[in-house]
Amino acid sequence: MTSWPPLIVASNRGPVTFERGHDGQLDAQRGSGGLVTALLGALQDAGGLWVAAAMSDGDREMVARSDGGQVDMGAFGATYRVRYLDIPPDIYDGYYNKISNGVLWFAHHYLWDTVRSPAFGDDIEEAWAQYVEVNRRFATALAEEGEAGGSEPAYLVQDYHLALVPRFLRELRPNALIAHFSHTSMAGPTYFRMLPADMRDQLLRGMLGADVLGFHSHAWAENFMLSARQVAGTRVDLARARITADGRDVAVRIHPISVDGRAMRETASTAEVRERRRELARWRGDARMILRVDRLELTKNIVRGFQAYELMLQRAPAWRTRVRFLAMLSPSRMDVPEYQEYAELSLAEAARINLEYGEDDWKPIEVRLRDDYIGALAAYGLYDVLFVNPVIDGMNLVAMEGPVLNRRQGVLVLSRNAGAHARLGRYAIGVNPFDLGEMSRALQTALEMPIDERTRRARGLSRLVLSNTAARWVRSQLEDLERARGRRVAAAGAAGTRARAS
Ligand code: G6P
Repeated sequence: MTSWPPLIVASNRGPVTFERGHDGQLDAQRGSGGLVTALLGALQDAGGLWVAAAMSDGDREMVARSDGGQVDMGAFGATYRVRYLDIPPDIYDGYYNKISNGVLWFAHHYLWDTVRSPAFGDDIEEAWAQYVEVNRRFATALAEEGEAGGSEPAYLVQDYHLALVPRFLRELRPNALIAHFSHTSMAGPTYFRMLPADMRDQLLRGMLGADVLGFHSHAWAENFMLSARQVAGTRVDLARARITADGRDVAVRIHPISVDGRAMRETASTAEVRERRRELARWRGDARMILRVDRLELTKNIVRGFQAYELMLQRAPAWRTRVRFLAMLSPSRMDVPEYQEYAELSLAEAARINLEYGEDDWKPIEVRLRDDYIGALAAYGLYDVLFVNPVIDGMNLVAMEGPVLNRRQGVLVLSRNAGAHARLGRYAIGVNPFDLGEMSRALQTALEMPIDERTRRARGLSRLVLSNTAARWVRSQLEDLERARGRRVAAAGAAGTRARAS
């Protein structure tokens, strides 16, 4: 077995949030999602450290009580430590709300309505300085932690919040082994050029401070390389996915993340989920069920999804009363005005369709608006069609979770713009998320697909998902870093030989 170097993970949101329970004690609540599951597994094995921003009052209280912001998770049955950075709220606001969520998220997901937005002014310039400041604080903390440990750690830096960290950390520790992973899609070079020139340049150079840059899909990696090609002093070899930046080698790698299918199946067999499944089955009755499970998020394309369904009801009226669309939506980033508006629009569209097409005991769309993971696990078991149609999405875990738990040979209708499509597309019905006609035909085709074909596809999907584990995702990144270290040692050796020969 390979022995890995000590691990240090950095991400904006930590793996646990501390909240005060009914008994007045601070409880650690674990985050869900693939990233936390995958990285925690690796950290548990290596006994490593996770550096994150303190986000809740509970987190901040833990920092105040702790030694240098470090919380030993041993008290919570774990073997890793978390170091929270307590960042003053006004700086955090600029870094997180304004730049990470308000600019970078929009850029990487093509969310601007370019006739009107963006219009970058002083407020963004100020917020950008805060983004830089927070990235510096992260880099400083990571460097300190690296120095404190005995041997050189492997740094795994996550996502667009921390795009400048690889470079800042490299300045502090030139020999550090640094991987940066992007969980989102990446803006293509033309769209990325909409950012202020200095911001764009710093973001690209920031990421290029890493030894390895990881992405969920080839399309995002390629977009990054096309942008990086425009940075002075870099050479990009697209075919070999290699970049030379300021004389250093940067490898670009594709590692699609997966879900923990076995753990999900275990949870799905608990009494709580079984009971919810029975309830939902009663609600569905004899009808077929189309399901979507999403954060109420601009990228998820909820409104066009409802409109495509409406079009199907118009084009294939025989399906009226025989199908039910369940939309499980969890509110997200509600303090961002665009999200608030989009939530209202989504609900209004569902209400309009229900009013126009609904009959006495048939409501075409049922919207359930709350964060309900247990309900989602139950619903996954029951769908005939899982509708995942994001405008664009780094990966999309719903497309993976559904097929692992479904029991009805359900069909996956999947946006070609989701990273998951590169992996699962051959067993899904692919759609262009802007094309209502194609999406409506896909829904109908899925509902009418012969059972043999459904079975073939459903089996293919669950096999693919279960064959890629979350642990493998981390392992591949560590192997990349080992190779980077090898290349560096070899290059230093060759340079030494040349120096002696001259
Ligand atoms: C999604 C994205 C991640 C991102 C996260 C941030 O899950 O796929 O790439 O890090 O959102 O969400 P937050 O609620 O922490 O802003």
